[in-house]
Parts: sequence; C-alpha cells; structure tokens
Amino acid sequence: MSDWPLNLAGFESAARDRLPQMVYDYYAGGALDEITLRANRDAYDEIALRYRVLVDVSRRSLATGIFGRSLETPILFAPTAFHRLACEEGEMATVRAAKELGTLMVLSSLSTVPMEQVIAEYEHVWFQLYVYRDRGLTRELVARAEAAGAAAIVLTVDAQIWGRRERDVRNQFHLPQGISVANALPGGYGDMPEREGDSGLAAYVNSLFDPALSWEDIAWLKSVTSLPVLLKGIVHPDDARLAVEHGADGVMVSNHGGRQLDTACATIRALPDVVAAVEGRAPVFVDGGIRRGTDVVKALAYGASAVFVGRPVLWGLAVGGDAGIVAAIRSLQHELDVALALCGAATPAQVTADILAPW
Ligand code: FNR
Ligand code: LAC
Repeated sequence: MSDWPLNLAGFESAARDRLPQMVYDYYAGGALDEITLRANRDAYDEIALRYRVLVDVSRRSLATGIFGRSLETPILFAPTAFHRLACEEGEMATVRAAKELGTLMVLSSLSTVPMEQVIAEYEHVWFQLYVYRDRGLTRELVARAEAAGAAAIVLTVDAQIWGRRERDVRNQFHLPQGISVANALPGGYGDMPEREGDSGLAAYVNSLFDPALSWEDIAWLKSVTSLPVLLKGIVHPDDARLAVEHGADGVMVSNHGGRQLDTACATIRALPDVVAAVEGRAPVFVDGGIRRGTDVVKALAYGASAVFVGRPVLWGLAVGGDAGIVAAIRSLQHELDVALALCGAATPAQVTADILAPW
C-alpha cells in the first residue's frame, strides 16, 4: 500500500494541510457563490453509465492521438498559474510529471518559471495565451513559445475581465516576494500589486489584459504563428461554430473551473451541443470538475477527444512535487482503466454515446 492518498479528494485534502491558506484558497476557489465550481463536479454524478458486457477487455490501452501525435493517456494537464506557490520548482516539476506520464501539459502565460525552460523539457507542451492590451508583448509571447518548441497555442477567451473570487478578496491574494509572472518579466509586467482592489491578481488582469478581444483577433493570432490555435473557455455551441469558422484548430469546453462567471453551465452539460456544432471539423476537449475515472468515460462518451484536469495537478504538486503529480494522475488513470473495462471498452476510442443514460 503506497503512502500516497487513495484518490484525488485525498490529494486535495493533503494539499490543503500543506499549503498556506491564501494559496489553497486561490487554487480551490471559484467565483462568487461557487455554484459553477460545485456544478462542474455534481453534473457528472447525475449521469449514469449503461455499460456493455461480454467484450474481451484483456488487452487494454489508454493511448490517445491528438493532432497526429500519440499520448499515453486522454488525461491532460490544463493551464494553471503560479506553480511555485505549491512547490519551489514550480512548472519544472509539473512538466517533468507530464513527461513521466506521457501526457500533455498546457503551460499558463502566468507561469512562475520562464516558458523557455519548461518547453525545452518536453515535446508535448502547449502554450496558453492571455492577450495583453500591449499587443507587442502578446506577439512576443507567441513568438517565444513557438521558438521554444511549443506544439500549439491555447487562446483563453473567457477571462479578459476577471471573475470575482471572494476568497482572494478576503485574503488579498498576491504573489509573495521572489515569485513573479516570469514570462512577462522581460516586457516589464512581471510584478503583481500586493494590495489593490479585489486582489493583486484582479488588479493585474483588469489593468493589463485586453477586454476588447474579439473574433477578429483570431485571424491576427493565426497570422503571427504557424502553430495550431485552440480556443479555451467556450460553452455555447454558436461560439464553437464561430471558432471553427474563424480557423480554430481545436475547441476546449471550459468555464475556467467555475472561477469566472458564477452560475455558468457545468462543462459536461455544455459539451454535447458543442460537439454537435463542431461536426467533427476539429477536436473538442473539456475540463472542469473531472475527479473520477468514470467522469473521463462520460466526457469521452459525449464526444471529447480527451479531457483536461486543473486543480488535481496542483494538489499533486503541493503534496509531492513531480512525484506527487504522477501519483495523483496515475490514481485517476487507474480508475479510468477499470471504468473503461467495466463499460466494455478496451481503449478510449471504443467509448460510445449509447452507454450514457439518465439515472
Ligand atoms: C486556472 N485556470 C486557468 N486557465 C487558463 O486558461 N489560464 C490560467 O492561467 C489558468 N490558471 C488557473 C489557476 C488555477 C489555480 C485554477 C484552479 C485554474 C483554469 C484551468 O485551466 C481549468 O479551466 C480549470 O482548472 C479546470 O477545472 P478543474 O479541473 O480545476 O476542476
Ligand atoms: C486563474 C487564472 C490565472 O483562474 O486563469 O486564476
């Protein structure tokens, strides 16, 4: 029996015991009453599985192909900011864990280790982009990511205005001395105010991110990079259609982990209509509240090409650095392996929508 927690809830509990309250609250928190934060998770429990039997599942694999590249699992790392708040090595520990697991990591614009160091570590790193009002800085971020070897750009489209996170307001969330927004340091935007408005982060975002971001900017972004461009933060099928029509190479159904618009729909509820709107023209992914192997099966059954997890990576990082992340994600992967087999699927690709049922 290993000393690691048994499941992702156990990793969160262990992380909570280790992290300063301000940091745990920042990682765990959602917007306003945290209704969407809870709904992301609860919605999965309202979906039943109508499993199939007498399928030979003696030879199983979690292997998943994305953009022609093979990964060992459909459980991918969502972009999350400020990993050095959880572990001194920060995003370097996270990318080593992604490499060990054979998965894919989306590196946040707001990483606490410069993107060049992280991306150099592993071939399956996508760079998540926040568009600053300073388009020169934004273009430079994209150019640096591409030059460093990022395999795609993920444009986050649901956070140009900051969602109100009341835990961060109470704690006046800010970055401690010695930790900065590493990628923006060269552009002069590496520091975050300590005591300003709702929180240091809200002040940083609301002063520096561009609220004028619109569909015309997708063409701009595609003009400054040759990498695939995915849009993250879509829940409406018409936006998914627009994303594909504007040249997006992938759609990530996300509500930012319930941290932006409270009472936004749960992502697993938004997923089927987005998949229908995209009509197979691009891969569709989903994140938000995925904590059990059965959640992954349900997302795959609704048509997701793979899923992303955010907070579980942070809990593993806080508990044991890269080894902690590996242990946390392996626990989820083991659950997925068992759930797939019990549904009569030997691989993620064999999951079909007919196993979904209401209770
Ligand atoms: C995030 N998320 C996020 N998204 C993004 O596009 N850029 C970012 O820098 C961050 N930062 C971030 C920090 C923290 C602490 C959290 C919890 C989340 C959102 C993230 O990518 C993802 O959408 C959600 O975290 C997915 O939900 P779960 O798996 O955390 O429930
Ligand atoms: C957050 C940002 C960094 O949700 O995306 O905290």
